[in-house]
Amino acid sequence: MKSSAIANSNIALVKYWGKQDKELILPYNNSISLTISDLHTHTTVEFNEELKEDQITLNDSQIDETSRKQIIKFLDIIRKDSDLKAKIVSKNNFPTASGLASSASGYAALTLAATKALNLNLTKEELSKLARRGSGSACRSIYGGLSEWQKGTNNDDSFAKQIEKKDYWPDLRMLICTTTTEEKKTKSRAGMAQTVATSPMYKSWLDTIENDLTNVRTAIKNKDFTLLGKTAESNCLKMHATMITTEPPIIYWNPTTIKIMKQVELLREQGIECYYTMDAGPQVKILCLKNNQETILEKIKQIDGVINTITTKPGEPAKTTEQHLF
Ligand code: PMV
Repeated sequence: MKSSAIANSNIALVKYWGKQDKELILPYNNSISLTISDLHTHTTVEFNEELKEDQITLNDSQIDETSRKQIIKFLDIIRKDSDLKAKIVSKNNFPTASGLASSASGYAALTLAATKALNLNLTKEELSKLARRGSGSACRSIYGGLSEWQKGTNNDDSFAKQIEKKDYWPDLRMLICTTTTEEKKTKSRAGMAQTVATSPMYKSWLDTIENDLTNVRTAIKNKDFTLLGKTAESNCLKMHATMITTEPPIIYWNPTTIKIMKQVELLREQGIECYYTMDAGPQVKILCLKNNQETILEKIKQIDGVINTITTKPGEPAKTTEQHLF
């Protein structure tokens, strides 16, 4: 009853920010993302009759009470009526809860490891539906490459589907620029609920989504990097406009975030094509093609405040591993 899994993080090109149903995690809109190589969560789960309570360790430490309650609630969905307790050990190879989608890779790895430990052999769609219940964006990390989360209308029809596998667009790069390793003050769950409730921009944001989805689907189909990058960047700015206009305001950026955004604009003016996207945190992800990655990295590394950069490519789907963490 022990199993381990590794899942990569994913970064949305058309973002999800807001739930129609908070309990089932049904979003207001479809989203499209790239699962990225190199940023992953490795998780081992063991269900054991001798355990009196669930034991959860993340990055060698106990987790906070809110996260613990969320994980236990999620485990209860998987183990249904049984009162089997679990030991979970999980490790991220990148900063947790700072806008690098650790909840996506985390819940995708947990879904796969926990269901395998219980000998449930679920399809990708079933895994995606289940992962969604842990953290919405996790439903997309079940797949490698590019995928789209179909918002659906109920528990059974809201899940991600693969658009293209990891090898479809091998030259695509996402450069992860870390500007802080601190955990964010407003987690996405609380932040998005607050935005839906108070931002006067929220409806306008939703009104633009269909067009962005169409553009990103077309860009992927035609490998049109310009359309992909432009749409992803503008979609990110629109999402941040809803965050900034939330009451009280949610401003995830720091001065380094803006310095990187400006450098990306400058590089573009100089003919080096690249685009930025940010999530619920101050880290910047730069979309580019392989031929420009070194030139861009050289410039970004010179910016004061950039802690480190990681070059990622389209990544693998979530998979089980024999390497157990205990
Ligand atoms: O799934 P969550 O609760 O981690 O929310 C993810 C929200 C964004 O990262 C900002 C956007 C997205 O679609 O991944």
